[in-house]
Amino acid sequence: MAAIKIKDNIYFVGAIHWDRRLFDELIPLPEGTTYNSYLIKGSEKTAIIDAVDPATNSILFNNLHSLKVDKIDYIIANHAEQDHSGAIIDLLELYPDSKVVTNSKCKDFLKDLLHISEESFIVVNEGDTLSLGDKTLTFFLTPWVHWPETMVTYLKEDKILFSCDFFGSHYSFSQFFVEKEKRSEILTYAKRYYGEIMMPFRTQIKKNTEKVEKLDIDYICPSHGPIFKEPSLIINAYKDWISDNVEKKILIPYVSMHDSTKIMVEYLVDILTEKGNDKGIKVKPFNLTYTDIGEFVIDLVDTSTVIVASPTVLAGAHPVVAYAVFLMNALRPKTKFVGIIGSYGWGGKMVEQLTSMLTNIKPELLEPVVIKGLPTNQDFELLDRLAETIIEKNTF
Ligand code: FEO
Repeated sequence: MAAIKIKDNIYFVGAIHWDRRLFDELIPLPEGTTYNSYLIKGSEKTAIIDAVDPATNSILFNNLHSLKVDKIDYIIANHAEQDHSGAIIDLLELYPDSKVVTNSKCKDFLKDLLHISEESFIVVNEGDTLSLGDKTLTFFLTPWVHWPETMVTYLKEDKILFSCDFFGSHYSFSQFFVEKEKRSEILTYAKRYYGEIMMPFRTQIKKNTEKVEKLDIDYICPSHGPIFKEPSLIINAYKDWISDNVEKKILIPYVSMHDSTKIMVEYLVDILTEKGNDKGIKVKPFNLTYTDIGEFVIDLVDTSTVIVASPTVLAGAHPVVAYAVFLMNALRPKTKFVGIIGSYGWGGKMVEQLTSMLTNIKPELLEPVVIKGLPTNQDFELLDRLAETIIEKNTF
């Protein structure tokens, strides 16, 4: 692809990784991702804001070549993670007079992760500015978005916020701006990204959102996904996700091996649908064997209740269910109520095992329904009672 003009003397020079399907060897990428690097040509100096993943270095360099960039004065590193910093080593080789501009914490990370030498850096602090001539960059520290060293860069004259991972989405595109007809789709991918990357740091994200929304912003240029020409679209979405509000939504992640657990899940879904519909309560089962775990995470962002359903395997929960609970605990959602249902053959400690995994979040635990073998009428009555409790808890 070619470099794309964003505004006068400001270009997208990054890479679109259409066919990447996994991030951190963990996060599914159904729409690939992008590594947005931006070139800013000031009247006196030229800067590049964030680089690209090393796997796509050649795309960045071809874009710079196409724009005939023979000098880069500053490489701004908003974040040390290698999907944005990895190309810095080669950039420094190609443009040996350039300096890496970042905060002191990020500098330390870059030295550790990429072995960049001390003399290559210019260190900036909160509110510091850097003149490119007719354009001025200001740096704001936004720690824990999602690493401790993260910062954003604001271009005053063009009212652009370069936010790196903040407000980003793993979404490949050929349209560089979020157009009206794509808003809903992009926000879903941004919500997925928030859930997977930002949600564990909700308190810090809230503080940082409050900090950046005070700026006069026309464009938000993140380093993953398309550019927001209406900053309020993504800022308001973030405000909603980081708020304490939850939706009356019951998620049921489950695995079933010989259908007993599946029968329980289907019964619970039916009864919650029947009795909760007129109360605005939504219910959503997730067969974890076949579902992209990212879709589960999207709903975790604002769901009130999670009912975990599992058969007993080797005296505990099915490992796939245990993974989902481990992930939920690590992502620290706002979930208020958690229940456990499932079936066993000859015993086990599934309930103790799963509840002991919830160390980061403190939901109210609902009475578990773990039964022997195929559910009986008596077992269905237990599920009726659980459904009543769920509806009662979700009447707010
Ligand atoms: Fe996109 Fe935290 O790197």
